[in-house]
Amino acid sequence: MKVTLRIFRFDPSVDEAPYYQNYNVEAEPYERVLDCLNKIKWDQDGTLAYRMSCAHGVCGSDAMKINGRCALACQKLVRECEADFILVEPLPSFTVLKDLIVDLNQFFERVNFIRPFLVAGEVPEKERLQTPEERKKMGKSIRCILCACCTAACPVANENENFLGPAPLVQAFRRIFDSRDIQKTQRLEQLDVEDGVWACLNHYECTRVCPKEIPVTKYINITKGEIKKVIGAPPE
Ligand code: SF4
Ligand code: SF4
Ligand code: FES
Repeated sequence: MKVTLRIFRFDPSVDEAPYYQNYNVEAEPYERVLDCLNKIKWDQDGTLAYRMSCAHGVCGSDAMKINGRCALACQKLVRECEADFILVEPLPSFTVLKDLIVDLNQFFERVNFIRPFLVAGEVPEKERLQTPEERKKMGKSIRCILCACCTAACPVANENENFLGPAPLVQAFRRIFDSRDIQKTQRLEQLDVEDGVWACLNHYECTRVCPKEIPVTKYINITKGEIKKVIGAPPE
């Protein structure tokens, strides 16, 4: 079948303003939007810029807005795009570096801020054990691939540039509820600020777009509950 992709183009080094460019490709319904982008780049227009790596929903690098919703191009099938054309745009709320590539530096700075690694105690004689029940508390947070879809889709993150954002909160959740981490209280204190967990207003957009089906909003709310339990009432 013939598929039309309407793609956001912008090269700040030469373009005065962004514009949209249409491309036609032959694609089977089971092919992915990423396959279409590759056909365009490899056969029609080598100037088209986008990120990709694994092509299998693991690296998170090909997050973009497809027909108005943040998604991974390597997960979105052509047959799932019901419009006459597939509208492909960069992740919203980030600065465009070129075409579909956005600047994620601030995003990863915020992830680094919450220390996305295990802070463990003394070195054990053998491995650090965890029971299945303890493991369950981290839930699906371990699936996060840091694609930034949730942060790009979050209305609060769009308006408040100081908001930590859903992805760092998911990363924090993972460590707060990891029985092997020894800094639970410090981690909760770090999130117990106006632009931390309390800035989340339960819009659920993060949960709707997460390609790894992580219940992001639920985990943010569980974290809020844990702060109330361990530290006390939130700031007014
Ligand atoms: S929580 Fe989901 S949407 Fe957000 S960065 Fe992780 S995988 Fe991507
Ligand atoms: S639930 Fe919170 S983090 Fe998620 S989109 Fe809504 S405001 Fe943003
Ligand atoms: S290319 Fe790695 S997640 Fe899509």
